Amino acid sequence: MAFKEGFFWGGATAANQVEGAWNEDGRGPAMTDVTTGGSAKEPRKITAVAADGSHITLKRKEKLPEGAHYAVLDEYYYPNHFGVDEYHRYEEDIALFAEMGFKMYRMSISWSRLFPHGDETEPNKAGVEHYRKVFECLRKHNIEPLVTIWHFDTPLYLEEHYNGWNNRQLVDFYVRFAETCFKEYKGLVKYWLTFNEINNTVMFLGRGGAAVTDEMYHDAYQQLHYQFVASAKAVQVGHAIDPENKIGCMICGITNYPLTCDPKDILENRHRWERDIFYCGDVQCKGEYPSFTKRLWEERNVKIDCTPEDLEELKKGTVDMYTFSYYMSSVVTTHKVTSEVSGNFVTGARNEYLKYSDWGWACDPDGLQYYLEVMNDRYHLPMIVTENGLGAYDKVEEDGSIHDDYRIDYLRDHIAAMGRAIDNGANCIGYTTWGCIDLVSASTGEIRKRYGFIYVDIDDEGKGSNDRSRKDSFYWYKKVIASNGEDLA
Ligand code: BG6
Repeated sequence: MAFKEGFFWGGATAANQVEGAWNEDGRGPAMTDVTTGGSAKEPRKITAVAADGSHITLKRKEKLPEGAHYAVLDEYYYPNHFGVDEYHRYEEDIALFAEMGFKMYRMSISWSRLFPHGDETEPNKAGVEHYRKVFECLRKHNIEPLVTIWHFDTPLYLEEHYNGWNNRQLVDFYVRFAETCFKEYKGLVKYWLTFNEINNTVMFLGRGGAAVTDEMYHDAYQQLHYQFVASAKAVQVGHAIDPENKIGCMICGITNYPLTCDPKDILENRHRWERDIFYCGDVQCKGEYPSFTKRLWEERNVKIDCTPEDLEELKKGTVDMYTFSYYMSSVVTTHKVTSEVSGNFVTGARNEYLKYSDWGWACDPDGLQYYLEVMNDRYHLPMIVTENGLGAYDKVEEDGSIHDDYRIDYLRDHIAAMGRAIDNGANCIGYTTWGCIDLVSASTGEIRKRYGFIYVDIDDEGKGSNDRSRKDSFYWYKKVIASNGEDLA
């Protein structure tokens, strides 16, 4: 009953995690191309050459030392260089999505495939034509593309020569990139997202108990401000080019709970929602900074570059829909925590009522219902769950079958929860599961952390036939879509 006719069932990926072809057809490198593989225990490293020529590695978000430059080094393996080779195999993959009955496919455009350095005035034609073919292929299969313009892949050149999103000039470079996308793919693409999980810049601070300086807060809020302005300008440009365009924000959705009924925990939890979740959503959906911004900035002595013209842009460039990823909930407390867990950019206390994935992410379908209901009340916008899924180890049986009932259970429970939220009034119009085909994990760089309905025969070192095969969840999801969410058995 919950899902209306035309509900967008589908799946999602990101260019840097599936495409590979990192240096083909004129593409420039992005940060992921100098990022090694890792695991839940061993963080991914960013590789560089120091001023004296020695090879060095950096942690995520660590600043490049004076005189150093990012570099691909022979002694490391870079999983995103190959991804799952979707750049060459998109036709086969889209045919498989169509076989499952997808109505929507969420994908991203690699910025450096269109603008290899990011500051060019004209795009790389080969890159533009590649995505045109992908969108035409989706249309041929009656699959609606949902396109993320930026999914963690600022061109490396902009990171190195402009100091990335700390520099206001990136606003113009991004808007040029977005405008190119809107113009080139007018008529082919109607649904867009400006920035993937825009809020994790600030959520990431303090993850794993790391000390966070005021300067780090300042940088995070400044980067976010430029991204907000870039997003708002892109929304206006996108609407001017095609009034049919529906352009959304994309928030990393975490449902936070207080650990105890100590009022201090209740307040701390509320403030966590404000900082991590509402701050970005409010700016992008309501067009202005929320009232708690003053407190957030003052607490950390943050004074950002923000002009009256910027604030005008934010007002004019509000989004048409609220979209978010949802994998897990988190527990917030002011008390000493004895058992801590980390996942998807946050660290919190363990929740004894929930099960955890092999990577320590809390599985909490009710949290999805809660999140949808909260956001429905707050923004009154159509919503899409643009990521949800279970990263798990899969075993290939001798006959080639893959019995991923754990994934089916996870998805079934979350779809049911989404249905309950819709029955309770939430205006949710779509659901694109994350990693509908196995891909490179963003946090760990592993392939064996698999999300797909479609198995890809490749391992963490890039070995394997790269052949695709259907897991049990493939047939299950096909049935879910065919019954418009009625048959979850
Ligand atoms: C989201 C990102 O944070 O979660 C994706 O938008 C990412 O890019 C996904 O892949 C799952 O996280 P992970 O670390 O398991 O790949």
